[in-house]
Amino acid sequence: MALEVLEKAQTARLELNGKPATLPLVVGSEGEVAIDIEKLRSSTGAITLDPGFGNTGSCRSAITFIDGGNAILRYRGYPIEELAEKSSFLEVAWLLLHGELPTMEQLETFRREVTRHTMLHENFGRFFEALPKDAHPMPVCAAAIGALATFYQEPETDQRIHDTFIRLIAKMPTIAAMSYKHSIGQPAMFPSNQLDYSSNFLRMMFATPCEDYRIDPVIARVIDLLFILHADHEQNCSTSTVRVVGSSKANLFASISAGISALWGPLHGGANQQVIEMLEQIEAVEGNADEFIRRAKDKNDTARLMGFGHRVYKSYDPRAAILKEACGDVIRKTGVSSHLLEIAMRLEEIALHDEYFISRKLYPNVDFYSGVIYKALGIPVNMFTVMFAIGRLPGWIAHWLELRSDKEFRIARPRQVYVGAKRRSYVPIQQRA
Ligand code: CMC
Repeated sequence: MALEVLEKAQTARLELNGKPATLPLVVGSEGEVAIDIEKLRSSTGAITLDPGFGNTGSCRSAITFIDGGNAILRYRGYPIEELAEKSSFLEVAWLLLHGELPTMEQLETFRREVTRHTMLHENFGRFFEALPKDAHPMPVCAAAIGALATFYQEPETDQRIHDTFIRLIAKMPTIAAMSYKHSIGQPAMFPSNQLDYSSNFLRMMFATPCEDYRIDPVIARVIDLLFILHADHEQNCSTSTVRVVGSSKANLFASISAGISALWGPLHGGANQQVIEMLEQIEAVEGNADEFIRRAKDKNDTARLMGFGHRVYKSYDPRAAILKEACGDVIRKTGVSSHLLEIAMRLEEIALHDEYFISRKLYPNVDFYSGVIYKALGIPVNMFTVMFAIGRLPGWIAHWLELRSDKEFRIARPRQVYVGAKRRSYVPIQQRA
């Protein structure tokens, strides 16, 4: 088999068992080259095999650009560093959903729409009551978002889809805070519509009916920053899940619920919880970071340096760089112990000078410092991945919308290489050894 990529001719020539096939090249707006293999199977009989999809483009997308070798992340062309410094989460959500930064009037309308839909149906109270008291908030959120579909069952029109994504963005913080309140046995707090998105979330998390919660604007801004940094990351595991589920024409609630479940895993969004547990473990043995690094490098040990490594970034994750700086600010502001941050920085220092991590291009990812910030802000550990989900929501929705309007839309249905038993005849049970 031979494969020749002829960029000038915009084609790739493949020869398989003497049978030639010419495949078109697709070049993205940032010069990325892909071989379009749509006709590969019909012209050669072969398929491609790419476990983990590391070399497979599943779609054309105009939402997010990542250059993992050069630490570049842009939403709709805007560098993450600029958005982190100058924008708000709702503005970024609008940008992801609509492709352009909103005008003042568009942003105000969006803010008003989101604010008007923050409340949940009263019956939702009974939904939470049915769950065990110590239920992890992540599957609770996935189930609650799926259950929202039962409250809005009208036929899918453009207006209905618009209402759905407004409802999702509006209700997600309410559901997240309710799932936390449920897990600690406190009554849920109603949303407060005069507050901005992140302040409202903080109040629903930390206020009680008998004692109000004074919102610190600096803390609310950090929460907003965290949401911005998590808002999209192109075809990651949970976003691909949302697209795959959406490709069956499942509704937005069902697709997002599946995305939340995919995000829960420790190799994806669940890593932020694992990072803090790892740092606390190291703290418990008097900060012996070297021993943990040794274990992370040992192939016979299941320990991994959580919050390190990334499928796409082969240099420092730009989100981690922003968070590392924010981390110091938060710790100075809140006055909480910086011990975990110190351990994290020591761990990073050791790893960045260790041949194992250097040769594999393993650097801190977004989850490495986000957990330390959440901890300093008093966000409980089992809510860390839920925070990620709130932030990622506009990205998931933007991808679902893009998929639905894609001219190349098809149900997702990968092939496989079958490696099981060849044809054999049924053996009656009495004759089996
Ligand atoms: N600690 C120790 N070794 C590692 C780590 C790590 N965190 N990550 C990768 N490696 C090693 C891995 O063992 C392999 O070594 P070898 O070549 O000797 O077999 C090599 O580096 C390549 O790793 P991989 O597992 O093939 O890489 P991947 O692209 O399939 O996985 C990853 C990416 C993020 C799942 C992985 O780096 C990992 O498990 N990291 C820890 C979990 C984590 O922090 N996840 C959050 C990801 S960022 C947030 C998000 O988008 O969800």
